Amino acid sequence: MASQANRANIILTGFMGTGKTTTGKLIASQLDYNFVDTDDLIEERAERTIPQIFAELGEEAFRQMENDIAVELAEKRGFVIATGGRMMLDSANAEALGATGQVICLVATPEEILARIAQDDTGIPRPLLSGPDPADRVRQLFQEREAAYQRFYQITTTGKAPTDVAAEVIHFLNAKIS
Ligand code: S3P
Repeated sequence: MASQANRANIILTGFMGTGKTTTGKLIASQLDYNFVDTDDLIEERAERTIPQIFAELGEEAFRQMENDIAVELAEKRGFVIATGGRMMLDSANAEALGATGQVICLVATPEEILARIAQDDTGIPRPLLSGPDPADRVRQLFQEREAAYQRFYQITTTGKAPTDVAAEVIHFLNAKIS
């Protein structure tokens, strides 16, 4: 088997609440890959939470941090990379990270996304949904982004446990290389 450093990355994209982080950790542990979550990396570097970055530095600064992280992670191999919900919809990020491995988009219905976000126990709110009507905002963002997410290979997560989604991703990757 190729050493971990030579193995192509697995890049997870998809709307907020589709389970990129939870599923990504499961895939990484099952395949013995490293795991990184771009939002976590940005928070660590900025020494601020994502909501603080949006509030204090603005969304543009956050998107620039995503661009910088994409360039940096494009040098790595053997990683499962859980990306922030819009990161791979930026063409420069998609090009940089897409060249390092397989991109998989996790999808869920807006209703499921809303239910999952409501149950999210990280305690960190999503700044893009902090307005008066998060449900309406999810539907609006969902419509805006749906076509762009369709550029990537998609796996539906609605009604599935993260372990099942991880198994599906691994099955797809195995089928691809065999
Ligand atoms: C965002 C999604 C978030 C985070 C930021 C912006 C988006 O990541 O990057 O709040 O624009 O969809 P998750 O998809 O991990 O929630």
